[in-house]
Amino acid sequence: MLKLAVLGSGSGSNMQSIVDAIEAGTLDAQIVCVIADNPDAKILERAARHGIPAQYLSPAPFRTKLDGEAQDLYIRTMKEAGADTVVLAGFMRIVKPGLLEAFPGRVLNIHPALLPAFPGLEGWTQALEYGAKVAGCTVHFVDAGTDTGPIIVQKAVPVEDGDTPESLHARIQAQEHIAYPEALRLLAAGRLRIEGRRVRILP
Ligand code: GRF
Repeated sequence: MLKLAVLGSGSGSNMQSIVDAIEAGTLDAQIVCVIADNPDAKILERAARHGIPAQYLSPAPFRTKLDGEAQDLYIRTMKEAGADTVVLAGFMRIVKPGLLEAFPGRVLNIHPALLPAFPGLEGWTQALEYGAKVAGCTVHFVDAGTDTGPIIVQKAVPVEDGDTPESLHARIQAQEHIAYPEALRLLAAGRLRIEGRRVRILP
């Protein structure tokens, strides 16, 4: 069974989709800890409602990354909770090699765009402003780059003429909530093999 540590900064709807899959018996995993880099993140309340240990850990002094002693504390906390896999779920920071080395090949992220298009912030707004007709989301293994790791699952959605950033983001998020449990199910079943840039899905 996967032992997941979930890192988030916001609402936690992706974590909720993972909790729902676990509770429905469709994902063989346990969330052993939730950590937020923001004390007001709703993800903490959501986790607490499901009896999942959840805490805010200060990322100071860094603004956009998790590094140094702050990252060491995150790693220690996740290890002590028994985590073997790190799930970035709306965690608005770049993680550094120390964390990747502590959980080799076991750090996943979800990005609200069809990578390699529109990495970085607000992929849905980037897609809309660019005039893309198709948008979507990507679950990938995390490597040392930003949104560059090997891709596990992607889901596409249409961009509608009347879309606003909010309406497009909502359509993408509905797919995120399917994609993340799906990727974790494959990982839990031992069906993912990383071959260079490609992730092969074993039968
Ligand atoms: C999602 O759109 C995710 O792709 C992005 O941040 C958002 C997090 O949403 N990285 P939530 O906190 O899971 O609701």
